[in-house]
Amino acid sequence: MIDVLELLPKVELHCHVEGAMRPETVGELARANGVGLPVGDVTELYRYGSLDEFLSVFWLVQSVLVTRGDWARLAYESVVDAAGHGRVYAELFFTPARHLAAGQRLADIVAGLTEGLEAAEAETGSRAMLIADIDRAYGPAAGLQLVTELGELQPERVLGIGMDSTELGVDPASFREAYALAARLGLRRTGHQGENSPASAIATVVDVLGAERIDHGLSLMEDAELVRRFAGERIPLTVCPNSNIRIANAFPSLELHPYPAMRKAGLLATLNTDDPAMTDLDLGYEYRSVAEAFGYTFDDMVAIALDGVEASWLDDSDKAALR
Ligand code: HPA
Ligand code: ZN
Repeated sequence: MIDVLELLPKVELHCHVEGAMRPETVGELARANGVGLPVGDVTELYRYGSLDEFLSVFWLVQSVLVTRGDWARLAYESVVDAAGHGRVYAELFFTPARHLAAGQRLADIVAGLTEGLEAAEAETGSRAMLIADIDRAYGPAAGLQLVTELGELQPERVLGIGMDSTELGVDPASFREAYALAARLGLRRTGHQGENSPASAIATVVDVLGAERIDHGLSLMEDAELVRRFAGERIPLTVCPNSNIRIANAFPSLELHPYPAMRKAGLLATLNTDDPAMTDLDLGYEYRSVAEAFGYTFDDMVAIALDGVEASWLDDSDKAALR
């Protein structure tokens, strides 16, 4: 089953393009752009005790992206790498807050990413769209500004918005204006929540922000009533089991992850890598390790892959083509 899961066509809905940067690219862009790294080999930093510890390394990796060409290279390499593990379609997060604060233009960032995605698609046939993530650490005004600029640019590759970064001490409801504007602009909406916050925060992201999906959603399992509601309404979760172990340190081993409990409860729980290069993961490994840890059959894994298609923001004809 091992090779078959590598070849199985897979969709990914929770992958940060910056977290998919090859370590050698981090080094080369840092040198080219005069960004000082605290170590010669960036992978020495790739061990995390918590989400917030991970985020400080993620921000360092992000800081090497300066020119439009850097964004194009990142997008191109990340899709080529994932295509090698059977990913046929992705909705990729990018989180431009610190680049915008440093004076980069959203139009250049999106143009660079789009150029890289198009080149990788032409070469591999693996497609990808974008989700512009609000960085919670930059606050609600920056979030609203990002959505406002998206409304002005209306970039074709950007399907919607999300929200990532720290969950500690942040009330998700404070981003309600940004999400309301996104809805008015016809943008799709998701949000990271429940990686490091209680189930009540997940309910806020759905009920107050109007999110259609939840990224991670780990703590949902604390609230049986909310689990029943998510299962009944087929509200997707983009779950990243190996990331939860390597980044959030949420469980000592994969066997203790609630992924099978989520599936058993009828949740639309998809499988994703989150930040593959920064955690030494790929989507083939994600599927293999989950199948092995939880004793899933090939048919179970196909059902998970098909749930990825259902949870995607593709239109119905594109979904049918992937099935
Ligand atoms: N959670 C929050 N912020 C992030 C993540 C994540 O999993 N990956 C990159 N930024
Ligand atoms: Zn994430």
